[in-house]
Amino acid sequence: MEIKYILDIIYLVASVTFVIGLKMLSHPDSARKGNLYAAFGMALAIVGTIFLYNHADGYTTREPIKIILILAAIGVGTIAGWLTASKVQMTKMPELVSLFNGMGGACAAIIGLMEYEHNLGKTGALATIIAGLIIGSVSFSGSVIAFLKLNETMKKPIRIPSYNILNTVVMIALILFGAYIVYAQPEHLLLVVLLFVFALVYGVLFVIPIGGADMPVVISLLNSFTGLAAAFGGFLYQNQVMLTGGILVGSAGTILTLAMCKAMNRPLSNVIFGAFGGGAAASSGAEVNGSIKDISISDTAILMNYAKKVVIVPGYGLAVAQAQHVIHELELLLEERGVEVVYAIHPVAGRMPGHMNVLLAESNVSYDKLVEMEDINPQFATTDVVLVVGANDVVNPAAKTDPSSPIFGMPILDVENATNIIVNKRSMNAGYAGIDNLLFYQPKTSMLFGDAKGVLAKLVSELKQM
Ligand code: TAP
Repeated sequence: MEIKYILDIIYLVASVTFVIGLKMLSHPDSARKGNLYAAFGMALAIVGTIFLYNHADGYTTREPIKIILILAAIGVGTIAGWLTASKVQMTKMPELVSLFNGMGGACAAIIGLMEYEHNLGKTGALATIIAGLIIGSVSFSGSVIAFLKLNETMKKPIRIPSYNILNTVVMIALILFGAYIVYAQPEHLLLVVLLFVFALVYGVLFVIPIGGADMPVVISLLNSFTGLAAAFGGFLYQNQVMLTGGILVGSAGTILTLAMCKAMNRPLSNVIFGAFGGGAAASSGAEVNGSIKDISISDTAILMNYAKKVVIVPGYGLAVAQAQHVIHELELLLEERGVEVVYAIHPVAGRMPGHMNVLLAESNVSYDKLVEMEDINPQFATTDVVLVVGANDVVNPAAKTDPSSPIFGMPILDVENATNIIVNKRSMNAGYAGIDNLLFYQPKTSMLFGDAKGVLAKLVSELKQM
């Protein structure tokens, strides 16, 4: 069989592993395996390309020096990626995703810079190269800014006056500049380098005004950009696996972006046309009147022990405290005593899509116990006790009642409909959106202050003594 066909079969197998892997990621039980399948497919495609690829003009990588250089680069990337990913805390995962995504964008942009001169005279190929270069560069610089925002190096959104108009003008100018290069096909690389810099600047302008609760949407959108840029690379090299991988990343990123927009009640146009959303601490929200009421561990234990139904609302603080194991222990203990316990999962609780699902899966909480927002909301009216653990914005009634609030319109968990609401957090500090939460001041709400892990451990031991 000709080498080319063997490589085609390898690419087909790799593409299939991507699709199967992606499908398996949709359930925590199979997610780890799915990831490994897709990684295996990618490794197969890389090895196949290095050893079996022949370009029409006779170019091949099957030369010792090229193989050494490629393997050295793969080695450096693998070690850096492995070390960073294995050390990163779960709560820092969005930063890592953002950085890795930026690397993908940078690769797509570099492909554009490298391939431009080789493809002069071929308008179709040049259009693909320029599109990949623009999108990859925007994704790279945008992801770096997103990374800096998430790790709080850039704390506040930077709002240039009329940034919305400015961003739109810059975006149109960027597209026209790219179209001009494809049309004029200048022999010198200088204009292409200028386009690259221009796209990097646009990526920065695109992300710097964005802050607060809308950040995850932007990261997901940039992720879909990188996928698109990689797909352009696949077109250029007529490489099926690069094309499939790029399309999968692009479409998965787009679906996730739309799902998050829906969960946060933001139209996608807000995301695409730049600056939107409230910054952290952008508004103090509604005026706070009233006082808060504390509850002790033993009173909480009594309430829960005699409840028929308890709903646990996990949030970002649960992840920070790493209290997923002890909360599972609490759930099992209550169930032993005949209390029905479920978890209410808000789509943007925590700091990344599916954060609570992954966190609770780590401590073997049964997947059936995780109830999505739409399904749990009608159940709060018949719930005796809601235990909010380290969640804040996702239970903030201002999203429904205060049009001036930065989270106004975001669907929330209607915990106020329950008979008793107990909120565990360390202080009265705000959550991600930087706003007060009137839930904490309602007569039905009691505050159980302290680090989630410590408080839950005490609650478990108190319950054991009852
Ligand atoms: P947040 O609104 O961020 O509130 C978390 C609360 O946890 C804080 O008020 C904090 O209060 C408390 N906390 C922190 N450490 C704690 C600990 N060790 N023990 C107990 N409590 C602790 O969280 P949320 O309700 O999960 O909402 C998520 C927010 O993040 C939303 O605004 C969402 O839009 C945004 N966001 C979501 C994502 C995704 S995709 N999930 C990504 C980025 C941003 P204390 O400091 O007083 O303890």
